[in-house]
Amino acid sequence: MKQREGRPGQKKTSGPSGESRRDDRAGRPPKPVARPAATREAVREAAVPAAVVRPLMTRSGERPTERVPVILESLGAGDFHLIDSGNGEKLEQYGPYRIIRPEAQALWRPSLAPQVWEKVDAAFTGDTDEEGTGRWRFPKEALGETWPLNLLGVDFLGRFTSFRHVGVFPEQIVHWSWMKDQVEKAGRPLKVLNLFGYTGVASLVAAAAGAEVTHVDASKKAIGWARENQALGRMEKLPIRWICEDAMKFILREERRGSQYDIILTDPPKFGRGPNGEVWHLFEHLPLMLDVCREILSPKAVGLVLTAYSIRASFYSIHELMRETMRGAGGVVESGELVIREAGTDGKTQGRALSTSLFSRWVPK
Ligand SMILES: C[S@@+](CC[C@H](N)C(=O)[O-])C[C@H]1O[C@@H](n2cnc3c(N)ncnc32)[C@H](O)[C@@H]1O
Repeated sequence: MKQREGRPGQKKTSGPSGESRRDDRAGRPPKPVARPAATREAVREAAVPAAVVRPLMTRSGERPTERVPVILESLGAGDFHLIDSGNGEKLEQYGPYRIIRPEAQALWRPSLAPQVWEKVDAAFTGDTDEEGTGRWRFPKEALGETWPLNLLGVDFLGRFTSFRHVGVFPEQIVHWSWMKDQVEKAGRPLKVLNLFGYTGVASLVAAAAGAEVTHVDASKKAIGWARENQALGRMEKLPIRWICEDAMKFILREERRGSQYDIILTDPPKFGRGPNGEVWHLFEHLPLMLDVCREILSPKAVGLVLTAYSIRASFYSIHELMRETMRGAGGVVESGELVIREAGTDGKTQGRALSTSLFSRWVPK
């Protein structure tokens, strides 16, 4: 979202990396960090920028055909919908709770009366700036940290996290339901790789539909939450490998091993860190990430889906990168934005569209 608010993605690792809000959707550059004298940490960091690991492949052949712009819109689904937005905030329904969170893109005025905005269960207030931690306020009664939700038939926990996130990015549902359809109609267990998988909702959707899933995230805490979600839905027996690792390091190893996947989802933050201090910087590392993803797509691959948020870029930048990366592979690259449409208090009254992310998706036809 690329204009979306900051999402997990960048802190060191104890929290779903990202609870420090440097990947702000407004695309603000990170504050310069004072460089410590040559500490071991600094030396190690310098030694592990993932991008130096191998050069990009030279691709030949035609670029896939293109479909642009594609606006993938959702009016909410399952337990989620966007009620209203305006004055730099959004009012959302997550199961039983109405929640207000900052939304820099809501430049207009709210549609609904102030009384509707006043009757909320939780509101994130405080410093929404880069380093701001803010806090949750519960106007009616104190709420627990988590509560049960369901999307696409999968149970998981909504969660009031310290940086205004609620444990799920519901705009992703359009990709998740596309993936679910692909898995269900494949007639074989598809292998799905979910990079930067966070609390695992996409992994659970894929596994419930019949896929064999590999979920990768740098944050131990996020992997813990994902496992909790798996247990909540009594899905422990489903084939999901939970891997706490730097995404780039993982795919490079999979490439060396000759592993292959039928669907790859990748939803990288602008900045992030692997568990051992590996640095992820979208503008530096995305070309190699896609290059490696192509190498680990199976010959019968069904799709490679990239979303990008909090970057200052047009969808064309990731679209053309995807087309160059997929030269000679045939198929189509479709790119555009993910948007959520306001749906009112009843979840059905269509209002304005809120852009959340850029995306680019290669499909074989
Ligand atoms: C925006 S969230 C992804 C959300 C997820 N796709 C979803 O829709 O539920 C970004 C995630 O990337 C993880 N992350 C950040 N840097 C990483 C890295 N270098 N390798 C792997 N995961 C990383 C964070 O821990 C965080 O969980």
